[in-house]
Amino acid sequence: MAVITEIKDLKRIYERRVPRMFYDYAESGSWTEQTFRENTSDFDQLRLRQRVAVDMTGRSTASQMIGQDVAMPVALAPVGLTGMQCADGEIKAARAAEEFGVPFTLSTMSICSIEAVAEKTSKPFWFQLYTMKDQDYVRRLIERAKAAKCSALVITLDLQILGQRHKDLKNGLSAPPKLTAKTIANLMTKWTWGLQMLGTKNREFGNIVGHVDGISDASSLGSWTAEQFDPALDWAKIAKIKEMWGGKVILKGILDAEDAKMALKVGADAIIVSNHGGRQLDGAMSSIKMLPSILDAVGDQIEVHLDSGIRSGQDVLKALAMGAKGTYIGRAFVYGLGAMGQKGVTTALEVIHKELDISMALCGKRSVSDLDRSVLLVPEGFGGRWA
Ligand code: GLV
Repeated sequence: MAVITEIKDLKRIYERRVPRMFYDYAESGSWTEQTFRENTSDFDQLRLRQRVAVDMTGRSTASQMIGQDVAMPVALAPVGLTGMQCADGEIKAARAAEEFGVPFTLSTMSICSIEAVAEKTSKPFWFQLYTMKDQDYVRRLIERAKAAKCSALVITLDLQILGQRHKDLKNGLSAPPKLTAKTIANLMTKWTWGLQMLGTKNREFGNIVGHVDGISDASSLGSWTAEQFDPALDWAKIAKIKEMWGGKVILKGILDAEDAKMALKVGADAIIVSNHGGRQLDGAMSSIKMLPSILDAVGDQIEVHLDSGIRSGQDVLKALAMGAKGTYIGRAFVYGLGAMGQKGVTTALEVIHKELDISMALCGKRSVSDLDRSVLLVPEGFGGRWA
C-alpha cells in the first residue's frame, strides 16, 4: 500500500488508474496553459514568516464560509464530469466532504444528478449553476436544487463560452467515452475503473439527460456548452437568478476589482476569485496575484474566496493570510477521487488539513481567524506593474 504524504502522491496513482481522456480533461488549461501554470507557480513567490516561542497548543482550523461552520475553510470546487473520474464520483466526494466537515459543490455538468447526490448524503451541499439560454430549464434546475435542500447557489460567470483545451478535442472527450480504437486501447489498461463504472447507472450528464430535449450530442461538454450556455448573461440576469433562488449566492469567476464591485451591487453573499483553474482565458493573471486588488476594492464589504492553484495546505494558508475567507480545491480532490475513491478524497482533505495546521503553528498562529498579511512575505511588485 502506497504511503500518501502529499497531493502529488495521489496524482501519480490517479494518472495510472483513470482513462487518459478524463485525466487530460482535469489536467488541462486552455490554449498555451500559461494561466494554468501560473496559478500554481505564483503561490511559490509568496513566502511564510517563521515565528518561534509562541504557545501552539489548542490550535484550530475551524472557521465559517457564508455563515456555515467548516472544519477548515477549504470547500470542494464544482468540477464537471467528476463521476467519470471514478464511478459515482460526485456522491463519493460529497460524502467525504460531509464527513470531514467542509462544503461540497455539485457542478451543473456533473454525472450524478442533484437528486442522486441528495439521496446519498445527509447534509446540504452547494449547487453550481451554469446559465443556459433555455430559461425554463434554468428555472427547473434551480427548483431541483431547492428541493434537494442545497444551501448555496454558486453561479459561474466565466464560462459562457468554452476556452479551448486542445487535448479534449484530440481525445474526443465525452461522457461516457465513445468506443474508438484509441479509447478501447486505453480502457483495456483501466480494469478497476471500468468494472466500477459498469456497476453504476450514473454514466451520463445526470442534470441534463432526461431533463431537456433536442440536444445534438448530450455526451459532449463542448457541444452542450456551445449550444446551450447563455452568451447573453449579464448583471441584470444574475440579479434575476439571485431572486429566483432566494437563498445564499456565491459568484464564481471574478478576477477583476470592477467586477467584484458589480458582484457587491447585486448583493452576492460571497465572490470567488477564480480563473476557472486556468481553463478559460489563457493569458489572464493567476487568482492569487489578483486577490490583493480585489480585497482592497471590496474585502471589507463582502466575503472573498479564492479558487485556482491550491494544491497544499501552505497554499491555503497563503490565501487566507492574504485575506481570503475561504478557498476551494478542484484538481487536488479529483486526484484523490481517481486514485482511491471516497477514501482518496478524505486523504486529500487530511493532507491539506495537516499542512495547514502545522504551517499555521510554525507561523506562530493558533487559529485561522488570527491569520493576516503579517504571516506573509510578499515580494515587491507581486501583483505586477501592469498598465
Ligand atoms: C467546466 O466547468 C470545465 O472547466 O470543463
